[in-house]
Amino acid sequence: MKILITGGAGCLGSNLIEHWLPAGHSIMVIDNFATGKREVVPSVPRLDVVEGTIADQTLVANCFDRFKPEVVVHAAASYKDPTDWKEDAQTNVVGSIHIAKAAAAHAAPRLINLQTALCYGRPAELPIPITHPTAPFTSYGITKTAGEQFMLMSGVPTVSLRLANITGPRLAIGPIPTFYKRLKAGQECFCSDTRRDFLDMSDFFSVMDLAIRADAPTGVFNVSTGEGHTIKEIFDLVAAHLELPELDVPVVPPAHDDVSAVVLDPSETERTFNWNATVPFAEAIARQLTWYDAYGVSDVYSHLAAPAVSKQAIHE
Ligand SMILES: NC(=O)c1ccc[n+]([C@@H]2O[C@H](COP(=O)([O-])OP(=O)(O)OC[C@H]3O[C@@H](n4cnc5c(N)ncnc54)[C@H](O)[C@@H]3O)[C@@H](O)[C@H]2O)c1
Repeated sequence: MKILITGGAGCLGSNLIEHWLPAGHSIMVIDNFATGKREVVPSVPRLDVVEGTIADQTLVANCFDRFKPEVVVHAAASYKDPTDWKEDAQTNVVGSIHIAKAAAAHAAPRLINLQTALCYGRPAELPIPITHPTAPFTSYGITKTAGEQFMLMSGVPTVSLRLANITGPRLAIGPIPTFYKRLKAGQECFCSDTRRDFLDMSDFFSVMDLAIRADAPTGVFNVSTGEGHTIKEIFDLVAAHLELPELDVPVVPPAHDDVSAVVLDPSETERTFNWNATVPFAEAIARQLTWYDAYGVSDVYSHLAAPAVSKQAIHE
């Protein structure tokens, strides 16, 4: 299958490449390396890497002309500077429109959009059902929500997967890399008093393998274990993994742009795709920490406009 992955040099895109290339698929990547890394998309057979932005309509059109993808996985997203609304809009809205229009013009059989749970804003119920209204209130959430709507309007069979926090190789956002990096360096941490859901990369792969099938359902789906865990639980697991003596870490109220609990209800996805998350929380975190032991933590990004001090222990 010919799969175009926007943002293929990012965490999820590059993991998908490592999963799908050995399965025999041909992959084209469009990435501007804003948060992705060149070295994770090496020059290998059946992988074509185009450096550029999806905000460039001509570049996007040329990639579709040349590659004629059968599946488009839209993973490119801008979030690293929460005050740069224009860049978020250029990538997450205008770029998404370019992808949606090009996919429609080429009658691409299938479009898969990766969506943030922040589209729900501050949820009125937990776990968040797929029918919950969207009410984003950050630059990332607002622009990603608009982008998703354009994808769904494209006329191309579209699956938009609203994702829990995916753990796996090269994870560079959220509390796990933040605590690991800081605790290893002997730096202080604190935990925001929030809850999140986490999903192991292998469970993300299994839902993606189903979503790219030509006969797969279309629509909007939550992808999660459905289980919420506190940031303090993460801190304790990281500290225990690093064999640190018991630490008395402060737990502070969420920052103004944070959400106290985000836990997605995957029941509709489970029914429709006959899919379930299989890796328990503690095992997913253990796998992540073992990966950091081997490869370390590089840059850590956040899409929260939190004050400098709370960037120490950020939450997704
Ligand atoms: N990782 C998660 O747990 C998670 C959770 C919810 C949603 N998502 C969504 O999944 C997608 C992938 O997330 P990720 O964690 O891999 O993030 P990431 O930052 O690692 O990957 C995003 C990629 O998009 C690229 N990019 C940014 N702007 C671009 C542009 N204008 N043109 C081309 N490429 C551009 C970046 O360089 C990067 O390689 C995003 O859409 C994100 O909103 C991820």
